[in-house]
Amino acid sequence: MQQLLFDSFETAFQKAKPLKGQLLKWIGNKQRFAQQIVSFFPERFGRYFEPFLGSGAVLATLAREESVGADTFPPLMEIWQTLIACPDGLKRWYSERWNRLMRGDKKDVYEAIKASYNQTPNGADLLFLCRSCYGGVVRFRKADGYMSTPCGIHTPIPPESFGKRVDDWAARLKGTTFLLAHYEETMSRARKGDMVYCDPPYSDTQSILYGAQGFSLEHLLEVIADCKSRGVNVALSIDGFKRSGKKQCDLPLPKGLFATEVFLDCGRCMLKRFQMNGRSLADEVVHDRLLLTY
Ligand SMILES: C[S@@+](CC[C@H](N)C(=O)[O-])C[C@H]1O[C@@H](n2cnc3c(N)ncnc32)[C@H](O)[C@@H]1O
Repeated sequence: MQQLLFDSFETAFQKAKPLKGQLLKWIGNKQRFAQQIVSFFPERFGRYFEPFLGSGAVLATLAREESVGADTFPPLMEIWQTLIACPDGLKRWYSERWNRLMRGDKKDVYEAIKASYNQTPNGADLLFLCRSCYGGVVRFRKADGYMSTPCGIHTPIPPESFGKRVDDWAARLKGTTFLLAHYEETMSRARKGDMVYCDPPYSDTQSILYGAQGFSLEHLLEVIADCKSRGVNVALSIDGFKRSGKKQCDLPLPKGLFATEVFLDCGRCMLKRFQMNGRSLADEVVHDRLLLTY
């Protein structure tokens, strides 16, 4: 059985369309693992749902019509909705700010865009800030959502390169519906035979990210169980997990909810069937973990 799963992983891995470049820089993005993650989706499924969209690395790697991408962060969803409704508008948002940055004092212009965002959070400023901020790490103050990252030391990519990414991403995501929604609402739309991929604001080593204090992994697991009972396939990413025994897995996983556990690393992965007590990577640090209900 394990060999069979690895064989289908190899084929699916080769078929997945690797991304040439990220559209957005986003903390915790799955760009490095997207191809591997997609290769573990069932060979055939109905619609695809990604309720914790962020920068959409997995959605764009899958590049499949009849998809739904959703997140609770309004300025982020404004970017995604504009990508589909008016890709040229997205290019204009970027090039107008890039030209200002090149003509003026870089830090001053960056700070002015940041101030504009913090006064009225909006997709146009966020798009440029995520590409130009320090380390590409957009940080928000927990108390009030204030974007606090300083200006990056790099030069943001020129509008021509950004424009090519917009065209590539718009083509990949042309059949996608974007929703500003809580994961529970998005996942309630999935029906028998559909596929849901969850990448919540939670990591095993860092607990809860993005100031999403209200996030409860236990509740997400209940919603996943509900999906499974309706015949929906669900994959859940939990990152920062070490198999070395230095850190124990203490996640409250309900017995029988997940059938398969995959350890992902850059370029390789190991798979364990829960019900087979399969062996997996011993004494190694693994960067990402995928739990499958199938
Ligand atoms: C780990 S990130 C997803 C990263 C994504 N896989 C990528 O490649 O960029 C988690 C996302 O969940 C969103 N989020 C937080 N709480 C949420 C909720 N209750 N419902 C839906 N999305 C939520 C955050 O805004 C954030 O974009």
